[in-house]
Amino acid sequence: MPTHTGRDVNTTTALDDRPALRHLPADFLWGVATSSYQIEGAVGEDGRTPSIWDTFCRVPGAVVDQENGDVACDHYHRMTDDVAMIAAMGVNTYRFSIAWPRVQPHGRGPANRKGLDFYKRLVDELLGRGVDPWITLYHWDLPQELEDAGGWPHRDTAHRFADYAGLVHDALGDRVRNWTTLNEPWCSAYLGYAEGMHAPGRRDPAAAAAATHHLLLGHGLAAQRLRDRATQPLKVGITLNLSDHLAASDAPADLDALRRADGIANRLYLDPLLRGGYPQDVVEDLRRSGIELPVRDGDLEQIAQPVDVLGVNYYSYNTYASDSSADEGGGYGTGIRTVDRGAERTAMGWEVLPEGLTRLLVRLHREYPGTPLVITENGAAYDDRVADDGGVHDAERVAYFRSHIVAVDEAVARGADVRGYFAWSLMDNFEWAEGYRRRFGLVHVDYATQRRTLKDSALWYSRLVSSFSGSR
Ligand code: NOJ
Repeated sequence: MPTHTGRDVNTTTALDDRPALRHLPADFLWGVATSSYQIEGAVGEDGRTPSIWDTFCRVPGAVVDQENGDVACDHYHRMTDDVAMIAAMGVNTYRFSIAWPRVQPHGRGPANRKGLDFYKRLVDELLGRGVDPWITLYHWDLPQELEDAGGWPHRDTAHRFADYAGLVHDALGDRVRNWTTLNEPWCSAYLGYAEGMHAPGRRDPAAAAAATHHLLLGHGLAAQRLRDRATQPLKVGITLNLSDHLAASDAPADLDALRRADGIANRLYLDPLLRGGYPQDVVEDLRRSGIELPVRDGDLEQIAQPVDVLGVNYYSYNTYASDSSADEGGGYGTGIRTVDRGAERTAMGWEVLPEGLTRLLVRLHREYPGTPLVITENGAAYDDRVADDGGVHDAERVAYFRSHIVAVDEAVARGADVRGYFAWSLMDNFEWAEGYRRRFGLVHVDYATQRRTLKDSALWYSRLVSSFSGSR
């Protein structure tokens, strides 16, 4: 029995404000997205071992209110109902991630059949309901045993990742066509190893730079492994968190602050993936801080495997000014301050700037031509409440989605090749260091009862998707 409540998706008459979207292709993908540690729970079941997030959540002060993913949305036990809910929303694709420590508990060696069985059932359930599965292989839950052996700063982890990709492909490759290797490697490398805000909580910029290189190498090795094993045409890609930031002024110091911030957050990933080499100015910036990327012969060719799709996660962008006393520029050095544009902010404190998404997509199209783009995440956290009438009236989130989807349409009108859009997230979930207090879901989760309630944004999105499909 479906666990979701609220008005029925098909009968609601509210929220008719749907944009025309004249430029998106007829076969545009509409999806919702999640990740394993954020929703699954069941962290000790069926042979799963701890990931770096299980460990990190136990560190006092690491996560707000000392919360963790032990239960999360209990998706591991409610998967069938959750898939029914996804299908009822009418989306045609669902992006989820595989928990590495569930399917290969020691990060190397044999597969765990029970762990793989869960994802086989999930894939079958999705396909049975006409929803295309979109797999992310790594959404931050590294097996703790691999971290103990050195983690991403250690080159061997890239090879372990390729083996793991092959193992997942052997189980699911006959039925799954869309494969994303990594989700937001900047977060894994920088937030995990330099800032210590994310697992594994290390504060060592040189380790973060090494992690960056080995994540990208792991992507390249895994992409090749997937293609080598493919038994059907696969679409293989990577998802980056990208933003086309701005400078606070035309003053040379501010423009240089922008160059450095853009370099470390965007170009350090885009250039090796799509142009075959690291951006020289960033390499020199790092060198001035005494940091060298551990590149070996052949690595750059491996990293620059052709990608079938570049996943773009977009939430906001920053405006940068030079300030020798600050360090807000995405890391590896001081001297950058973010400037408030005075825009409305979400509960995360992120400015709502949809025009930045248009700018970003057009820039990717211009500077990295020929790579199809998919928005693999876009969404907003707000302080939602279940109202007395049983609904969740999240008008701000509806407005956020509306303006950003219009921004995608505008980018396509200007030439960008955008093939799909995934709303983040299907349901409220464990928002990493912010714990459960930040709600990004289209569906509200009452964590005490695990009751799911479709928010107005879910109803709106569902109607948008069905009217789009109906109009083509
Ligand atoms: C990006 C991450 O991929 C996802 O896990 C996270 O919840 C959202 N951003 C919101 O912060």
